[in-house]
Amino acid sequence: MDRRFAANVRLANGIDMPAIGYGTYRMDGDSAYDAVRMALKTGYRHIDTAAYYRNEEAVGRAVADSGIPRSDVFVTSKLWNDFHSYREAKVQFERSLSALGFDYLDLYLIHWPAPAAIRGVWKERMFDTWKAFEELYGAGKIRAIGVSNFWKHHLEEILPRVQIRPMVDQIELHPGFPQVATVDYCRQSGIQVEAWQPLARAALFSTPLVEELSSQYGVTPAQLFLRWELQRGIVPLPKSADPVRIRENLEIGWFEISAQDMERITTMPEAGWSGLDPDRVAF
Ligand SMILES: NC(=O)c1ccc[n+]([C@@H]2O[C@H](COP(=O)([O-])OP(=O)(O)OC[C@H]3O[C@@H](n4cnc5c(N)ncnc54)[C@H](OP(=O)(O)O)[C@@H]3O)[C@@H](O)[C@H]2O)c1
Repeated sequence: MDRRFAANVRLANGIDMPAIGYGTYRMDGDSAYDAVRMALKTGYRHIDTAAYYRNEEAVGRAVADSGIPRSDVFVTSKLWNDFHSYREAKVQFERSLSALGFDYLDLYLIHWPAPAAIRGVWKERMFDTWKAFEELYGAGKIRAIGVSNFWKHHLEEILPRVQIRPMVDQIELHPGFPQVATVDYCRQSGIQVEAWQPLARAALFSTPLVEELSSQYGVTPAQLFLRWELQRGIVPLPKSADPVRIRENLEIGWFEISAQDMERITTMPEAGWSGLDPDRVAF
């Protein structure tokens, strides 16, 4: 039996995005190249990178060398915090595209809503930046545009004033940090949520509830976390540099968590939050 998960979610603009992605944070150069090659070989078709990760060149090369058609791989990159303006967004987008070696990007995100240096004027700068995103999308250079680390109150500020709504919001989300308010708001607004740090960096795997349910379902804690995210309609982006764990994280297509156990995970005590509050981060 093939236990790998393979399904898409459809974004608000009709674009299909693979419902599990592969995270590449903290991998650079050769390690990112090897890991992305391994992930593609294992079956992932959705790769998450960012200008900030300094691995776009390696990611692009791994996609090109994989032999998989470019159109079969969904690649995301992100605009870093130093570049929130109409002009800089366009310049940085072209820089990312060229580093990746692509002629279009599948998804481009604003990495953080309110960088420390512009916190007092974040909304104005966001609208300015978003205008560039809308134009790049309109010109066909990006298939979908979105945001990252926007919590409910950020989205409430911007949605009424943009021409094109973000199609995706990528936020920290995992058992112990379920982000119920933002997820509900995104669902009502037609925004697809993606989970970063979906495994809570393996920090909660030995809590009693996680141990109990993993053993009950005959899965690993990582598989339990990722399946809980998928069943909430959220796209997880697990990162692993290890071939065995890369496969393990994709083999979540064969079991189902009951509604009652879903609720138990969703309501477990808060734990494992990185502490990266988008209104307080120092960068
Ligand atoms: N938008 C944002 O601001 C933002 C912020 C952070 C991250 N992200 C994205 O989200 C992705 C994932 O987040 P993350 O990398 O911080 O955390 P994560 O995926 O929750 O955890 C990664 C850690 O878990 C370990 N791991 C992976 N699979 C495992 C398994 N099956 N069993 C045990 N341990 C396992 C990995 O070690 P090994 O590599 O040794 O397996 C690594 O140390 C990032 O790579 C990035 O693409 C976005």
